[in-house]
Amino acid sequence: MQPFRVAIAGLGTVGAETARILLTDTEMLSARAGRPIELKAVSARDKTRDRGVDLDGVDWVDDAATLAARDDVDCVLELIGGSEGVAYDLVLDSVKSGKSVVTANKALIAHHGSEIAKACEENKVGLGFEAAVAGGIPIIKSLREGLVGNHVTRVYGILNGTCNYIMSVMRETGRPFDDVLADAQRLGYAEADPSFDVDGIDAAHKLAILSAIAFGHHVDFDNVHVEGVRHVSPLDITFAEELGYRIKLLGIAEESDAGVQQRVHPCMVKADTPIGQVEDVFNAVVAEGSAVGTTLSYGRGAGAGPTASAVIADVMDLAAGRRVPVFGLDSSKLSPARTAPIASLTGCYYLRLMVIDRPGVLADVTAVFRDHEVSIEAMIQRARNPEEAVPLVLTTHETSETAIKASFEELARLDCVLEEPRQIRIEDF
Ligand code: NDP
Ligand code: HSE
Repeated sequence: MQPFRVAIAGLGTVGAETARILLTDTEMLSARAGRPIELKAVSARDKTRDRGVDLDGVDWVDDAATLAARDDVDCVLELIGGSEGVAYDLVLDSVKSGKSVVTANKALIAHHGSEIAKACEENKVGLGFEAAVAGGIPIIKSLREGLVGNHVTRVYGILNGTCNYIMSVMRETGRPFDDVLADAQRLGYAEADPSFDVDGIDAAHKLAILSAIAFGHHVDFDNVHVEGVRHVSPLDITFAEELGYRIKLLGIAEESDAGVQQRVHPCMVKADTPIGQVEDVFNAVVAEGSAVGTTLSYGRGAGAGPTASAVIADVMDLAAGRRVPVFGLDSSKLSPARTAPIASLTGCYYLRLMVIDRPGVLADVTAVFRDHEVSIEAMIQRARNPEEAVPLVLTTHETSETAIKASFEELARLDCVLEEPRQIRIEDF
């Protein structure tokens, strides 16, 4: 049987572990693929760097771009990252040269997924990107193939391991945000630029991909509503706990009258729900389908092993000749995205104001909510210190995003409100 010959571009956290598995579990993988799997060539920037894996006998290539043209390679593994530049060129050139491609690069798929899918169809090659969403959880296969007999109505979950790790460790230990982020970087969880993680962009890349598969539309990253976790303070984490919630960065895609809601933002979820219990670097994705009902997938969302596991799974599919359309449909059949604006959202909210503790403040604040027809469910104001700002926490009954926005604009103008008001949406799953 002809061997399936692969090349790896990028030997960092994901690429080095992928190479290690390919070189050490060769027999098992070859037996399962039904043909030998051979690592022919690798490329990274620094040839002298110790990758923790013995690459003797594997060609080293200084210029990753040349992998696309090699006759002795069937499949290129793009594990460099970035939506443009070398990753973009390598993937498209490889596809155009008739090679299948595996990538872990969610930024690339979120920005150029439709173009790459079309190129794969034209060149009759496969594209694997399981590792691009939720690390080691096989959610792409599950949604695109396992749930193919369903109309999916909603898909949501914890899609960024770094943020979940930060939120979990801050809650458990009280350690500051920057310290915990540095740990996540050291553990290989964070993106090369960690602002992609903490500002919600990475989760938005993943959500845009999941939404395209779930609802059969072109990837629409530009219209995903994105908020990150930078503004979640230790105070919010403490109040959430007191109210029986945990704070999670969620990605949510769901059908609504206004189109498909696609949003990424911190949420308060009940601590005793399955999503509330997902801690550390773990991710979880819930998909709701017309026939299956609710499914929950859980596993490590980042790091060398989990991500390499997903990359290898794609290599195996391609080696065995299993190829499905990138987003589950021929790209000509994908509909244009109709993404609902965040202003169309309704729900319950946690609100935190930092106010001067003096008579009349509560009346001023509640008058604003009354004027915008925001109904308050509960309120906490415990500290008492006329010299300093004290937190005033409120939770609301169901209200509209526009009412909260208008209330906040007015609250920010009150002289008793000393800092920008903060809100976290409450999701009742
Ligand atoms: P790293 O930063 O650890 O590794 C990137 C690798 O790319 C390095 O080996 C680097 O070389 C190499 N590289 C950079 N520029 C070039 C270039 N021009 N030509 C050849 N090689 C180049 O990233 P990760 O392994 O963490 O991530 C890789 C991809 O996987 C990204 O798309 C990321 O989003 C995705 N991903 C990462 C996960 C994780 O947990 N880390 C999880 C899921 C997806 P050198 O080492 O010499 O500097
Ligand atoms: N930086 C990403 C995360 C890697 O933390 O989830 C996995 O995609």
